[in-house]
Amino acid sequence: METQEQIAIRKDLLELMQKHGFKDASFTSKLRHFDNSVSKWVSSLENPGYRLRYEAVKKIARRFKGFTLDIGCGPGLYAKLFEPHQYIGLDFSGGMVVRAKQDNPNHIFVLGLADRLHFANSTFDLVLSVAVTEYLENVTNHVNEVARVLNPEGHAVIVFRNGYEQWRERDKNILRWLGKGVEEKTWIHHSHKPTDLFHPALRVVEEKYLGVHLVPGVFDKRVRLNRLLEKCITSKAIRMKYCSMGLILLEKEGK
Ligand SMILES: C[S@@+](CC[C@H](N)C(=O)[O-])C[C@H]1O[C@@H](n2cnc3c(N)ncnc32)[C@H](O)[C@@H]1O
Repeated sequence: METQEQIAIRKDLLELMQKHGFKDASFTSKLRHFDNSVSKWVSSLENPGYRLRYEAVKKIARRFKGFTLDIGCGPGLYAKLFEPHQYIGLDFSGGMVVRAKQDNPNHIFVLGLADRLHFANSTFDLVLSVAVTEYLENVTNHVNEVARVLNPEGHAVIVFRNGYEQWRERDKNILRWLGKGVEEKTWIHHSHKPTDLFHPALRVVEEKYLGVHLVPGVFDKRVRLNRLLEKCITSKAIRMKYCSMGLILLEKEGK
């Protein structure tokens, strides 16, 4: 059940998008989906798949602390990695922002759009975009905005879906065969290549592939054998082919 607040927020965001000429036919369904999946995201770190990327981002956050923007912050799970005065979480879902504030009362969370950030140029030392690109109609707008709001020599971490297509159909058929429901969300872009996320002002410092997905199964629940393989497969080329998540660490060029 949507609250009056959520309906009002969606109206405001749609007006904002219209004003800036953004077209995204599936925007309302996406927003509804996230407003209604807050509690799922609150407990997402209990799943080994999501935990993997959290740990990878945590390591980077330790190295590059500074004024941080967490784009698509969800219920604010990553906020705990930062001092409240050094962190702003941004999300387009009112439900997510309200929950993030509830769980992290000293941190700042704002409503906003990942592809039209309402911050001045060169504002942040670190920008996180964890599991957001798959929901965007135009990922280039997002990367341009990330580059714009970063300080010179600032860093960005983008975690994206990698190579999903190759096993998606296979896994869906297996799940159907097992009589399990398969949820179809036509507005999810199932994969990006790291090159989709490159920007002329951002140098690639690191590229990692996480979440080996050789054995069929639902990503959230990660089959034990995949977890074992995760530890054994060290070749970047093989990981790039068989991992469900990619992470790139980018550095903005200096002054
Ligand atoms: C998969 S969740 C990830 C949440 C968090 N980054 C994490 O890893 O726990 C994606 C988040 O991005 C937000 N989101 C999706 N599209 C967005 C957009 N265009 N602008 C701002 N936030 C967006 C969703 O509301 C959701 O909270």
